[in-house]
Amino acid sequence: MTLIREIKPGILSIGAIDWDRRLFDALIPLPDGTSYNSYLIQGKEKIALIDAVDSTKADALIDNLNALGIEKIDYIIAQHAEQDHSGSLGRLAEQYPDSKVAGSARCLELLVEFGLVDKERTQELKDGDTIDLGGKSLQIISAPWVHWPDTILTYLAADRMLFSCDFLGSHLATSDLYADEAVVYRAAKRYYAEIMMPFRQHIKKHLERISSLDIDLIAPSHGPIYARPEFILKAYREWSSDEVKNQVVLPFVSMHGSTKAMIDYFADSLITRGIEVKRFDLTNSDIGSLAESLVDAATVVIGTPTVLSGAHPLALYAAILANALRPKTRYASIIGSFGWGGRMLEQITQTMPNLKLQLFDPVIAKGYPKEADFRRLDQLADEILAKHRELIQSQNAAK
Ligand code: FEO
Repeated sequence: MTLIREIKPGILSIGAIDWDRRLFDALIPLPDGTSYNSYLIQGKEKIALIDAVDSTKADALIDNLNALGIEKIDYIIAQHAEQDHSGSLGRLAEQYPDSKVAGSARCLELLVEFGLVDKERTQELKDGDTIDLGGKSLQIISAPWVHWPDTILTYLAADRMLFSCDFLGSHLATSDLYADEAVVYRAAKRYYAEIMMPFRQHIKKHLERISSLDIDLIAPSHGPIYARPEFILKAYREWSSDEVKNQVVLPFVSMHGSTKAMIDYFADSLITRGIEVKRFDLTNSDIGSLAESLVDAATVVIGTPTVLSGAHPLALYAAILANALRPKTRYASIIGSFGWGGRMLEQITQTMPNLKLQLFDPVIAKGYPKEADFRRLDQLADEILAKHRELIQSQNAAK
């Protein structure tokens, strides 16, 4: 079976939908599957393929090319070396022996190191280079660190299209060629959180860089195409900005109910004060949702009991994840309980060196929380409210 869809004359979507994939990088849950988009650009003289697909979907891409009767491809543009876009390059190179694999120097180096392409088949592309296909000229835009050091974007001025690779994409398997904005928003935000957020300062620069381009369509390499570019560009500007929201993320784990009792009380205390709460029981939470919640929140409060004389490993996992994702979160604290002492506070705070967090005094109960512990939780909620008000006022004043 084949799946070939025309976007504009001479521009076809010929990638693959992966409805069944449920995990990426052996880490990130994909509740909605994903797609590996590949675009065929046919000029009057030459043909280019932008991005290949994961090796598991190589047959789908090759079948599409065969169904179209494509006998020659001049350029296979590898916008990014990660295997979900390059895994089928070997098959393509075999089928199209005269094609050049073109990409940034770093991308080509990686592809050769991965054993996906021979060095003599490669052609380096630099920022500002153009590839003329005859009536369609591809302009190369260097965009490192979205999320690897090798990425390029490709702008097709004649059709006002930007091919954005991972940037602006979403892990979403859908039959929609064009984004249903109400559906794609959460998938794109989750994708931003998992993949782009650690590189927020680079993302801002790339957004600025493409702001001068005349763009009708943004075609990422995962998820549907954006027929209204401003939808995703506005969302990215908001997510990558320095502004935070009046939200507290509460990842927690509880063994015998003491930490849970504190978290539940604290959540109510925050909500009563008008603060939005995102609560995650780490024994059964989707880490993608947790990552997504960190995009905007001003504060994170981790809940953990003491186990084996330290923080619970699931709480440490959440702290390691938050540290790696580098959200713009400003404040943090820890809630928990202990039976006979331990090092959980130092363990958690030392696990997050990347985050420039202001720490509120933790609230740690001995055994099941008592009245005094609940009062301290109210006090912590008051302190968070005061800081959030101050922050949001200064954000509003700066607008
Ligand atoms: Fe979709 Fe970074 O690969």
